Amino acid sequence: MKIAVAGTGYVGLSVALLLAQHNEVHALDIVPEKVAMLNEGTSPIVDTEITAFLDGNKSGKKPLGFSATLDAKEAYEGAEFAVVATPTNYDSQQNYFDTSSVEAAISAIREVNATAWIIIKSTIPVGYTEHLRIRLSDERLLFSPEFLREGHALYDNLHPSRIVLGAPADDGQAIEAAHAFANLLEEGADPAELSRHNENGSVGIPKLVVGTTEAEAIKLFANTYLALRVAYFNELDTYAESRGLSTRDIITGVCLDPRIRSDYNNPSFGYGGYCLPKDTKQLLANYSEVPQNLISAIVDANRTRKDFIASEIENRIQGIENPVVGVYRLTMKSGSDNFRQSAIQGVMKRVKARGVQVLVYEPTMRDSEFFGSEVTKDLEDFKRRSSVIVANRWNSDLAGAEEKIYTRDLFKRD
Ligand SMILES: NC(=O)c1ccc[n+]([C@@H]2O[C@H](COP(=O)([O-])OP(=O)(O)OC[C@H]3O[C@@H](n4cnc5c(N)ncnc54)[C@H](O)[C@@H]3O)[C@@H](O)[C@H]2O)c1
Repeated sequence: MKIAVAGTGYVGLSVALLLAQHNEVHALDIVPEKVAMLNEGTSPIVDTEITAFLDGNKSGKKPLGFSATLDAKEAYEGAEFAVVATPTNYDSQQNYFDTSSVEAAISAIREVNATAWIIIKSTIPVGYTEHLRIRLSDERLLFSPEFLREGHALYDNLHPSRIVLGAPADDGQAIEAAHAFANLLEEGADPAELSRHNENGSVGIPKLVVGTTEAEAIKLFANTYLALRVAYFNELDTYAESRGLSTRDIITGVCLDPRIRSDYNNPSFGYGGYCLPKDTKQLLANYSEVPQNLISAIVDANRTRKDFIASEIENRIQGIENPVVGVYRLTMKSGSDNFRQSAIQGVMKRVKARGVQVLVYEPTMRDSEFFGSEVTKDLEDFKRRSSVIVANRWNSDLAGAEEKIYTRDLFKRD
């Protein structure tokens, strides 16, 4: 089966490679360098499984039906399904996602293919697919939320927590297409997942076909819950640090309750990465005239946390003449090369606003400056010149500079 994918970022590339195990997949991007790299078998992003898949294809050990292109006709013509995985950045002027790239991709698909089922994988506002179906008089638009984590993009598609498809409840053909696409995603998953036992007693990968608006809500409510959990343990840490208590002991004791669990509870400088900050704000915008307290609090809590971290850093440089705050990595997570919306950038902005010099250590960055601050790749020089080193996540790189480090990575994990 021919399948097209628009966008070869974290989502598009991992879905494309997953489906390319059993189908002919044509992935289109508008960035020529990405397309060239992919056709040479090189991943434009850091991801173990993506690299392994591209290597296996190149060596012929595990051939895939995968190619990348800039050409819309080549990608979209004759495809049965066309997946849209383009960015939806939060537009702070409009207080809403900017969905223009999704609409550009849909219009490019429809120019050469009137019948493909278009599966929107980009995260979109609640109600968007329904609105677009009416506005474009296009009945072949479906939505499937993506739950992958950056750094584990293809892994999470090979081992999905669940597969969710959104189709209008009163359209039998669309529901059938949604089930067919869910089956394709399942077919690409690691075969061991088909016999796994889930917490709810079910066996295999849970598959859910619901309304498009419900599917959109699943994505935004799931991410807002994750942001809530991060914000909660961060606020616990703010309290403990302010009162001179051991955050580690409190979190350990709290999380021994099996209803609370011991994962996703490691304090940080704030929730960040591409998705959580923008998805929480979009959900808040969707609430509009619906009463709520929690969703605003989750958005506000992240600002308060970064203010607190910045003032803690300020306390640590008091009395030092011409202090230099060393920022260890701009990334959000260890093992990632992506620093979109990372929490440390918010902290950095606050520190700089107080007139303090910032030095960044970021080995993946080509430029020698980041928003007016010097960037170095020389770790030893960085350690020597920094009065205090702030690290959202601990790394063995930092060994030997313990007395300078300020981190809240208490459990030394993501
Ligand atoms: N990154 C994540 O962890 C994650 C997880 C779940 C959902 N999402 C959502 O998926 C969407 C994509 O996220 P991402 O992280 O993969 O983004 P990304 O920025 O890594 O990749 C998007 C790609 O789309 C390309 N593109 C832009 N306009 C295009 C067009 N008109 N036609 C074809 N390609 C185009 C870009 O060049 C880029 O390569 C977003 O809506 C995001 O919220 C992301």
